[in-house]
Amino acid sequence: MPRVARSQELTMPVYLVTGAAGFIGANYVRHLLEWEADAEVVAVDYLGFAGNRSNLDGVSDRVVFEQADIADLDTMRALYRRYRPDHVVNFAAESHNDRAILDPSLFMRSNALGAQVMAECSRLVPVRSHVHVSTIEVYGELPSRSACFTERSPLNAKTPYSAAKAAGDQIVRAYMQTYPELNIRMTHCANNYGPFQMPEKLVPLAVTNLLRGRKVPVYGDGLQRRDWLHVTDHCAAVHRVLHADLQPPPPEAATAPELLPIFDVSARHEVTNVEIARRVVTALGMDPSEWIEHIPDRPNHDRRYLIDPSKIETQLGWRPVHEFDAGLVGTVDWYVEQRPWWERILETKGELGFDWGAVRPGHVPSR
Ligand SMILES: NC(=O)c1ccc[n+]([C@@H]2O[C@H](COP(=O)([O-])OP(=O)(O)OC[C@H]3O[C@@H](n4cnc5c(N)ncnc54)[C@H](O)[C@@H]3O)[C@@H](O)[C@H]2O)c1
Repeated sequence: MPRVARSQELTMPVYLVTGAAGFIGANYVRHLLEWEADAEVVAVDYLGFAGNRSNLDGVSDRVVFEQADIADLDTMRALYRRYRPDHVVNFAAESHNDRAILDPSLFMRSNALGAQVMAECSRLVPVRSHVHVSTIEVYGELPSRSACFTERSPLNAKTPYSAAKAAGDQIVRAYMQTYPELNIRMTHCANNYGPFQMPEKLVPLAVTNLLRGRKVPVYGDGLQRRDWLHVTDHCAAVHRVLHADLQPPPPEAATAPELLPIFDVSARHEVTNVEIARRVVTALGMDPSEWIEHIPDRPNHDRRYLIDPSKIETQLGWRPVHEFDAGLVGTVDWYVEQRPWWERILETKGELGFDWGAVRPGHVPSR
């Protein structure tokens, strides 16, 4: 039985983690229970397309699960009042760029309104710390000759997913500066890889296709460059930001965003999408020249992102510990071993399998 004792005297810290049935949220809950054996965890997720209760198998007896929409203020405020969380981590978001092109409204609700509702709940029912988890993609596209984004970079999102996340960021920045006593922090992370990611994302898509005798589809020339970090390193960074002893932002932060409690998270490891595909094919002992196919690119696909993690490294002492080559091979092995997990998802949820080449400009259908 979950041990979270509602409305009772609690000695252990209570964590409220949203998006907990998704990829990174589930990894975080699992690590949190290892890092803090006595933590009380309330896992919140509305079980949208990317939410899978099975991601919490093995720890579900140690968490209280609440199926709820973070964009619903009354529901979330009631959960805050019931559980009185000490710490809140908001991972909940719609996260798939292709799906965002087909249904932008869903993304605006979770990623923008949901971010505001969560910050508002932490204002109405105060917590000790609150981390809003955001993404490198809010900075937009990095010119090929530029070094990298930093916390000083302006938000310049251009896709429906990243624009919705950037809207959430702006709202959270407003809360940080208007209510500095609330201890709201934010992270922007690079692309994650690791276990429990939906089979429609690049690494699991490649493995699950190959294991079913299908080629790995790569958008366009595949030379889109991404900054890759193991999900466990991301979870450790979020946990460190959550517990950091930070001063409220000074007034100068109004014109110097790097003074806000915002931390960019990355392993400084830039790899093209086609190179990721090649490595997965090779890890499975197959020949990349036979098992990769280039397909029409999705509209408005960012070419490059890279961020500088110097601030979290120097101020909080965080460093990634997973070396990329070993981490990627370990991830491929996980999907090989966990075939029943992803087969059940594919059976119950189906596959996106969208043909962008068949879409005429200005006629993107909805889902
Ligand atoms: N995956 C990455 O590479 C990456 C990188 C940087 C930042 N992020 C951010 O990390 C967070 C988690 O990403 P992920 O990859 O785990 O995504 P995911 O899609 O795997 O999981 C998101 C979870 O949030 C839930 N959710 C969505 N809207 C909700 C709502 N309104 N109410 C309650 N639950 C809701 C979904 O059901 C899902 O379980 C997101 O905020 C994302 O922007 C992801």
